[in-house]
Amino acid sequence: MNVKRSSGKKIAVLISGRGSNLASLIDACARDDYPAQIAVVVSNRPAAKGLDIARAAGLSAVAIDHTAFAARETFDAEIDKVLRDHDVELICLAGFMRLLANDFVERWRNRMINIHPSLLPAYPGVNIHERVIDDGVRISGCTVHYVRASMDSGPIIAQVAVPVLSNDTADSLAQRVLSAEHQIYPQALRMVADGTVRVSGERVVFAAGEQEAAPLVSPLMVTG
Ligand code: GRF
Repeated sequence: MNVKRSSGKKIAVLISGRGSNLASLIDACARDDYPAQIAVVVSNRPAAKGLDIARAAGLSAVAIDHTAFAARETFDAEIDKVLRDHDVELICLAGFMRLLANDFVERWRNRMINIHPSLLPAYPGVNIHERVIDDGVRISGCTVHYVRASMDSGPIIAQVAVPVLSNDTADSLAQRVLSAEHQIYPQALRMVADGTVRVSGERVVFAAGEQEAAPLVSPLMVTG
């Protein structure tokens, strides 16, 4: 993993576990031309592996154990204090498994993004890959979006479509989607941090237009 650098928008990464998306953001932030830097990593679980990844990269890593707080609002207020102490300008949720209260979400409106392992608005919530396979879906994927108060909702910034194979298990599909997550989250954060995208009327708009991607056909078929 690359070491942190210190220029660009100050971001906080909020995690609850493994931290593989955090690792992809750390690597991106180490690039010279990247428009963001990680000011602090916060986990609601003190044992989260991602905290070790953050510390190994020389980042400030803070555990705020949600079980120590009686009310969601006081937990959120503690997170907010840590973010203010670190002059955070943008929040990236990366596997953060706590719902944030409305007040917090509104305070960070259009300054907080999330990654979710499905093509939203399809398959919000948990056990996504199991549900995708049960439904016989041929294409799944992942989504980076601005955060709104209801779970896994908000203006969509970017998505990657990923094929689902007939012999996939939830684990094999999760792995394929996760690789796509590691690719798209740094790219989406770049666009948010450098002003390439912004929210207008609850949709994401591109300051200078956007490029059309090739369609993904799944499975590949013989033509004609
Ligand atoms: C990812 O699949 C992310 O999309 C979801 O939670 C998982 C976190 O994985 N929100 P990691 O902790 O980044 O490895």
